[in-house]
Amino acid sequence: MRIKTIALTNFRNYRKQIVTLGQGLNFIIGANGEGKTNFLEALYVLSLVKSYKAPDHDLILNDAGLSRVSAILETKTQNIELTVAFSEIGKAASFNRQSADRLSDYIGIMNVVLFTPDDMTLIKGGPADRRYFIDVVLGQIDKDYLNDLTQFKHILKQRNELLKQMQEKKVNDQTFIDVITEQLAIHGEKLIVKRKEFIDKLAQSAREKYDYLTNKGEVMIGKYIPSIKGDYLQELRGRITADIVSGTTNFGPHRDDIEWTLAEQTAKFYASQGEQRMIVLSICMALCDYYTDVKADQPIFLLDDVFSELDAEKQNRLIQYLLKSGNQAIITATSLIDIAHNYKNQAKIFQVIKGSIREEQQHGQS
Ligand SMILES: Nc1ncnc2c1ncn2[C@@H]1O[C@H](COP(=O)(O)OP(=O)(O)OP(=O)(O)O)[C@@H](O)[C@H]1O
Ligand SMILES: [Mg+2]
Repeated sequence: MRIKTIALTNFRNYRKQIVTLGQGLNFIIGANGEGKTNFLEALYVLSLVKSYKAPDHDLILNDAGLSRVSAILETKTQNIELTVAFSEIGKAASFNRQSADRLSDYIGIMNVVLFTPDDMTLIKGGPADRRYFIDVVLGQIDKDYLNDLTQFKHILKQRNELLKQMQEKKVNDQTFIDVITEQLAIHGEKLIVKRKEFIDKLAQSAREKYDYLTNKGEVMIGKYIPSIKGDYLQELRGRITADIVSGTTNFGPHRDDIEWTLAEQTAKFYASQGEQRMIVLSICMALCDYYTDVKADQPIFLLDDVFSELDAEKQNRLIQYLLKSGNQAIITATSLIDIAHNYKNQAKIFQVIKGSIREEQQHGQS
């Protein structure tokens, strides 16, 4: 899928802006603070009706009261007009001028994969950041997963409250803890299986992308690390006494992690800044392929400030990859100084200055 034309009204530092994007590579170039990330955020918001980094009211241009992003999305089968709007009292989304009664009816029409410097938490952050990554992706493409996750969180909270009461000897309800343990295991087991399957597939593909980007022969591996081995229900039953003593559920999907290694060393401690960035980038590239498989249409790839910390060779390899993949990609950068002319000529280049975007006229090889 591709965005043809996008219009921003009172969005962040854009008062009124219409941009016609190219089918393949699009570069958004500008100095710090001019509005590059804001533009990518608008595309993200159009897809998910919320930002990845700020509450809704921050999206509205200072004192404007109402903010709107609309676009024509071209999918394999049709063109869809999408609109999202934010005001001080709420938000709304519509497709083909029909307003969506529930946001869940709207989310999923436009698929984006976003790379931002914040994604480094996937390597540098804690287990919760990594679990959140999985939950966001699987939650978007698998309604059963989302349902199991919601149920699991709800039951976990109940179980922990009960364990706390049992720890404090206020209650000793063996039947209730057994029932709740069983329910938790039903949903937890499904989460573990799907997460593992997803990470196995994603990591295998990311490994190939990393290899392509670096061309160094160092192997990057990702693994889902469950906090329990074996059957979840059995493990939970076996550990009930320990759970009562600590007043909480110590094992399960809420304690699992993903391990990323480079050359058999933990990436967080071993890989350089640039290498960590390339690992995350490889994961995002793999995610694009994953969405293409599942949704039978290519997602739109948004890359914020991806070139910093990458040497010229890696930057050009990435561009080469994107040109070949055929995804529509929107890439922000402060400059394209290291990018080969031949690649730049195959892209649309936009300059952004103080919340105003203008397409740069191409001058061939000169
Ligand atoms: N709601 C808003 N209304 C008006 N201006 C805003 C709003 N939110 C953010 N801005 C402004 O938008 C400007 C541009 O932000 P943006 O993050 O897009 O810059 P950038 O071009 O990505 O810069 P960098 O290269 O540093 O990443 C900031 O200077 C900020 O003050
Ligand atoms: Mg930025």
